Amino acid sequence: MKTFYIETFGCQMNTHDSEKVIGTLVEKGYRQVDKVADAELVLYNTCSIRDKAEQKVFHRLDQFKREGKGKIFGVLGCVAQQEGERIFERAPHVSLVAGSASYTKLPEMLIQLEAGNRRVTGLSLHTTETFDTPYTSRDNPHRAYITIIEGCDKACAYCVVPFTRGPERSRTSESVLREARSLAELGYTEVQLLGQNVNSYRDPSPAGWDFAKLLDETGKIDGLRRIRFTTSHPRDFGKSIVDAIDENETLCNHVHLPVQSGSDAVLNRMQRSYTRSDYLRRVEWMRKAQRDIAMTTDIIVGFPGETEAEFNETLRLIDEVEYDAMFIFKYSKRPNTPALQYEDHIPEEEKTRRFTLLQEQQRSIQIRRNARYVGKTEQVHVEGYNPATSQWIGRTSQHKTLNFADAQLPAPAGAETLTGRYLDVLVTRAGPNSLAGQSVF
Ligand code: 5AD
Ligand code: SF4
Repeated sequence: MKTFYIETFGCQMNTHDSEKVIGTLVEKGYRQVDKVADAELVLYNTCSIRDKAEQKVFHRLDQFKREGKGKIFGVLGCVAQQEGERIFERAPHVSLVAGSASYTKLPEMLIQLEAGNRRVTGLSLHTTETFDTPYTSRDNPHRAYITIIEGCDKACAYCVVPFTRGPERSRTSESVLREARSLAELGYTEVQLLGQNVNSYRDPSPAGWDFAKLLDETGKIDGLRRIRFTTSHPRDFGKSIVDAIDENETLCNHVHLPVQSGSDAVLNRMQRSYTRSDYLRRVEWMRKAQRDIAMTTDIIVGFPGETEAEFNETLRLIDEVEYDAMFIFKYSKRPNTPALQYEDHIPEEEKTRRFTLLQEQQRSIQIRRNARYVGKTEQVHVEGYNPATSQWIGRTSQHKTLNFADAQLPAPAGAETLTGRYLDVLVTRAGPNSLAGQSVF
């Protein structure tokens, strides 16, 4: 029996790619092991979105080398695509370098590796294919990812993704729905539709569905109780998505809509192709919806040339929108991206100052927003148990963490667990990052 070990970094797309890579390998007769030492094939699925990703990858590859002689090493994902054959020069023990746009060729690449070829690459970005597998390895028996669109056709000035994941290509609605139905039959109740930009989903089959239609139809599948999606690009985010959420309770009332900056001048330099007011119009659709839609976002501080006044516009925007949660990133230079050539890069200390200011302001917004739930009953999907706090961990439709005590099952007992169940929980306390409560019967 051939064995493999895989380590994964990055976004949900990467995590899900690894699930499909594992599925492909298992189908080809490999067995997954959880220690490098026990594996014949060692795979590293990498992310290059920020920071010194390349250095970290080479450092980890060196560690792998020390951990195992005579093994076959492979680098997958965004750093593989970005660095390409340079990886063979800097880490000669590596035999496989493949970006996500080449994973459909993984079975062929495995055959070449097994035949003793020590320089196998999958680096072409010219593809119309999506990575569909007959078998996907999923650890969680309740929640599952489904890819609906791969790649990205946008050209945000800071972003490596268009260079690492290839052009946009959508799966047919038929194959997405088939996968969703089969997951429901297997007992999954929550699915998350994935893509770099789900809003530009376009069914390649004659049905020609857009994303809102796909969402709506997925939401009607028997057995599925929660449908999530990520990630959205404001430019392509239509009102029909808000309408679909309003009309279909199984679609979660949470939208992650990365704004990146509250300043038109910065948005323009970022090549985001929307203005602050375009963005706020979308926020208004959500605020006017029947359902209480939670909104979360991503913000980059210290983009090249960002002035104090421009940064202040971001502070004002977040006061106006009142997000439920926010991911803040300090701008980081990425290879090949247009912003690398921009002037006026912001010093690191200044990025940190802006990061902290934004974080503090958002913290008080979250305290205020979360306080609204105290005294209300929320339905949670139970994710697990935290022995450190002796509490169950639940997630609301709005994607808020709600930790709770359960009088009937205060802790897991043998095979008895609440994980995977849907329970009503009375919220008794609220903090900036989570809610706490007691299940009700
Ligand atoms: N520097 C900092 N943050 C970045 N992001 C993407 N590229 C960069 C970069 N070069 C952030 C964006 C995006 C999130 C996934 O990562 O906010 O929405
Ligand atoms: Fe990282 Fe972006 Fe690649 Fe995801 S798509 S793994 S976030 S670089």
